[in-house]
Amino acid sequence: MDDMLRYEAERALALIDRGRLKELEPRLTAARQELLDDVALLDSKAAVPASKEPLDAGFIELPRRLLDDVVESGGASLIGRILRAALPLRDELEDFVVLGIGGSYMGARALCEALCPAFYNFLPRERRRGPRLFFEGNNLDNDSLRGLLEVLQVSGRWGLSVISKSGGTLETAVAFRLFRRALDERYGASSDEARRYIVPISGEVSAVTGKKSRLRELAEAAGYEHVFPIPDGVGGRFSIFTAVGLFPAAMLGLDIERLLAGAADITDRFRSRPPGDNPVLDYTAVCHVFEQDRGCSIRVLSTWGARLEALGLWYDQLLSESLGKEERGATPITVVNTRDLHSRGQQHQEGALDKLITNVLVEAPAEPPLELPRDERDHDQLNQHAGKTLPEFLRAAFDGTNRAYADAARPTADIRLPRLDEYTVGQLLQMLMLATVLEGRLIGINPYGQPGVEAYKRNMEEILRGRST
Ligand code: PA5
Repeated sequence: MDDMLRYEAERALALIDRGRLKELEPRLTAARQELLDDVALLDSKAAVPASKEPLDAGFIELPRRLLDDVVESGGASLIGRILRAALPLRDELEDFVVLGIGGSYMGARALCEALCPAFYNFLPRERRRGPRLFFEGNNLDNDSLRGLLEVLQVSGRWGLSVISKSGGTLETAVAFRLFRRALDERYGASSDEARRYIVPISGEVSAVTGKKSRLRELAEAAGYEHVFPIPDGVGGRFSIFTAVGLFPAAMLGLDIERLLAGAADITDRFRSRPPGDNPVLDYTAVCHVFEQDRGCSIRVLSTWGARLEALGLWYDQLLSESLGKEERGATPITVVNTRDLHSRGQQHQEGALDKLITNVLVEAPAEPPLELPRDERDHDQLNQHAGKTLPEFLRAAFDGTNRAYADAARPTADIRLPRLDEYTVGQLLQMLMLATVLEGRLIGINPYGQPGVEAYKRNMEEILRGRST
């Protein structure tokens, strides 16, 4: 139990009639049942009714199934294959690039930042468990692409993973062509390295075109040694526990089985525990009631620690693409404190009353605490705090901020992680995915798919082909 994250909403609940949560319970548990029925429907392979399309509920039971498969199939399991592919590459490569966008990138970045030491890429090789990691193919930014290609030109051995579920996303495909060319030039197009140092990860068929993934076709034609699938029934932003997140994590030497164990355990809790003892149900209920009753349509994920910023951005995408439909859906914002107390803090304290703030707090730092030293000169007058640790300063800021918000009747709640490791991060990611889908079912919005994103892509293609200006 000590390893489990906790969701605590006492400060927020003091501002509303708790009876509202009780009233919501039957609808909430019915929505939970719908999620579980969705999994059963996918498993049955029966036709999915049009009202449920697309249905990407495959992420829900995926962590437990992957772990069970390790027991049943050992080295032939997906986890076994990922580890086998990553191990030699981790040793051989100095740099590794992950090409992907949206759900094919943000999860890997969240894992890297949360679970690797700060300034990971700057650490000497002996303090890193894998190559330096870079992300590209998530933009059409000339300078950033060129900059990374130049870095790689003067680097030691490097490789890449190209990730796209549909296999045709332009940003990623353009970057892949450029990086593949650079890799071919470095090692020779038919070299062993060119075959081993590129690891494509893709779905079988594009959900948009219904045709075979172009990336998959390319990978087969090129004969790359390792190609990993993204299973049907798992949507892009829900794919962090497929090879999309797990392969980059394995390249960093992270414990991917612990990650999955955290996700599987919070799913068990979601399935079996009643409201009041169920972080997914409780978080969803509080978000929903504050949005309905108090107009809190802005969800601030207030992270206390720089290592959680990318995880917050991953959640921004998850909530935006899942529920931002039919002119509805709360707006997510990630802040990193205490940094953003000096930018957004003013608005959160005194601006429009439209925000629910959920803190994400790690109770014990991953690294030994730094202590403020005594200084004989004391020009900065900090000797009064000498001996206090950085976590103590952060704690004072956390308590002070939440007290100030409470005094101004601003709702805040906490997600508390006992520490930052694979097990707790696995729980948090899966909790947020489950809560997002649960909320969709609760309010009658299909949380899967992102039809709105297609419009810009269509226009861009037309403009590029010169059909429109
Ligand atoms: O959640 C999603 O499905 C999207 O954000 C996709 O991940 C994103 O558009 C990238 O798509 P693809 O993986 O097909 O390149």
